[in-house]
Amino acid sequence: MAGGPVFTGKGGKAYPGNLTPYVLATCIIAAMGGLIFGYDIGISGGVTSMSMFLEKFFPDVYRKQNAHSNTNQYCKFDSVPLTLFTSSLYLAALLSSLVASTVTRKFGRKLSMLFGGVLFCAGALVNAFAQNVAMLIIGRILLGFGIGFANQSVPLYLSEMAPYKYRGALNIGFQLSITIGILIANVLNYFFAKIHNWGWRLSLGGAMVPAIIISIGALLLPDTPNSLIERGKHDEAMSKLRRVRGVDDVEDEFNDLVAASETSKLVEHPWRNLLQRKYRPHLTMAIAIPFFQQLTGINVIMFYAPVLFKTIGFKDNASLMSAVITGGVNVLATLVSIYGVDKWGRRFLFLEGGVQMFICQVAVAICIGVKFGTTGAVTALPQWYAIVVVLFICIYVSAFAWSWGPLGWLVPSEIFPLEIRSAAQSINVSVNMFFTFVIAQVFLIMLCHLKFGLFLFFAFFVVVMSVFIYFFLPETKGIPIEEMGMVWKNHWFWGSYIPDDEVHNGGTTALEMGVKKNGNSKSVY
Ligand code: BGC
Repeated sequence: MAGGPVFTGKGGKAYPGNLTPYVLATCIIAAMGGLIFGYDIGISGGVTSMSMFLEKFFPDVYRKQNAHSNTNQYCKFDSVPLTLFTSSLYLAALLSSLVASTVTRKFGRKLSMLFGGVLFCAGALVNAFAQNVAMLIIGRILLGFGIGFANQSVPLYLSEMAPYKYRGALNIGFQLSITIGILIANVLNYFFAKIHNWGWRLSLGGAMVPAIIISIGALLLPDTPNSLIERGKHDEAMSKLRRVRGVDDVEDEFNDLVAASETSKLVEHPWRNLLQRKYRPHLTMAIAIPFFQQLTGINVIMFYAPVLFKTIGFKDNASLMSAVITGGVNVLATLVSIYGVDKWGRRFLFLEGGVQMFICQVAVAICIGVKFGTTGAVTALPQWYAIVVVLFICIYVSAFAWSWGPLGWLVPSEIFPLEIRSAAQSINVSVNMFFTFVIAQVFLIMLCHLKFGLFLFFAFFVVVMSVFIYFFLPETKGIPIEEMGMVWKNHWFWGSYIPDDEVHNGGTTALEMGVKKNGNSKSVY
C-alpha cells in the first residue's frame, strides 16, 4: 500500500524500510571490495622492508640500510625507485577511476566491481612471479586499475543500497574491509618475512585471494535500485527495492528515485555539468575531503610503519610486529565509527578525530625530535622510548580510523545528486589516489629533510581540515540520499549556491510541500 511521505524533524522524508538480512548480506559482500585496497596498502610497506626483496630489486637501498650505523637515521630509506614501486599503483588507480565513472553510470555498479576484482587478480599474478623491477611496476599498475574500479563503485553501491538510517554504518563496512585487508597483509608479511628468498612472492601473490572474493561477490550481487532506474529498468527496480527494504510500501522512495533519474537524464555531460555553480558545494567536497584525508598523514604509517619503526631502532621482526599492532588498532577503532556514525553524526567524528590526531602528531614530533634532533645521528631509541612513540602512533591511528578514514569514503558517496554521482565519485577517488601517490612518493624524502618536523607538517593540516569541516560540511546523518539537496540549501554558506527551484532529487518535492528548514530559519550547518 502506498503511504504518504513521513517527514522527520529535520525536514527530510523518512522512507519505510528495515535492516533486512538481504540488505545486510548484500552490503557485507559488497563491502569486501575494500579488501583489495587494504591488502595492498598493508602488503607494500612490509615487502619493501624485507631484506631479500630489497636485495633482489633495490640493491642500493639494501646496502644503505646495512651501512654503518652512524648514517643519518632520517635518510636511510630515501630511494626514488623504491617509492616509485609503492606509488605507481596510485597513478594507475587515478586513471582507471575516471574510466570507471562511465562504466558505473552506464552499465551499473556491479560491473565496475567485477572489473576491479579481475584486474587486481591479474596484477597479483604478475607481481608474484616478478623477475625484475619492470614486472613489479606492471603488476602494480594492474593492481591500481583494479583499485580504481572498486573504490569508485563500492562506496556508491553501499550508500544506494542501505536504508538511509543505517547508511553510515553499512557504508563503513567498506572502510572496515580496508582495515581488515591491511591487518591481514601485516600479519602475512610478519610470517612470510621468515621464509627466506621468496616469502615476498607469497605476500604479493596473496592479493589474488581478496581479488577472487570481490570478483565472485560482484557476480552474485544485485544492482542497486537507483542504478536500475537510471538504466530504464523500472519494473526490476521496483521489485528489487521491495526486496531490499523488506516492505511493500516503497512507492514513495521509488518515485523519488525515478524523479532523481529523470533529472539525471537531462544531463548529457556529467563532467562539464560538475562545473555549474549549483554543484559548487559537491565539487568542493569531492576535492577537499580526499585531499584532507591524505593530508592527515595516515599513509606514512600505513605504508612505512615497518620502515619508520626500523628508523627509531626496532629490529626487522619488531618492526613488522609493530605494524601488526597499528593494523589491529585500525580495525578495532573502525568498529567505533560503525557504532557511532548514525548516532553521533559525521561532524562530531570528524572534529573529535581531528583534535586527537593533532595531539598525537605533536607528541610524536616532540619524542622523535628530542632524541634524533636535526642530524638524526643516533643509532636507536631506548626501547621504552620507542614504545611510547608506538603508543602515540596507535592513538593517532584510532582517531583516523573513526573519523577521516571511513568518512573520507562515506561522505562523498552520500552527498552527490544522482546526475553527477558517478562522475563526482571518480573525482573523489582520483584526488584521493593522487595525494596518496604524492605522499607515498615524497614521504621518505620529506622525512630525510623535514625530519621530525614532518609530523608537525601533518598536524598543521589537521587543524586546517578541522576548521574546514566545522564551517563548511553540513551534517548528513539520517537524510535519505536522494534528499540531500535540502541539506545544502539550508547551509549558511552553500545555501546561496543552490537555486530555490532547484533543490535536487526529491528535495524539490520536500520544499514544495512546505517542509520547514531546520528550525525556522536557515541553520548554520
Ligand atoms: C584511506 C587510505 C588509508 C586507509 C587506512 C583509507 O580510508 O583512503 O589511504 O591507507 O584508510 O585505514
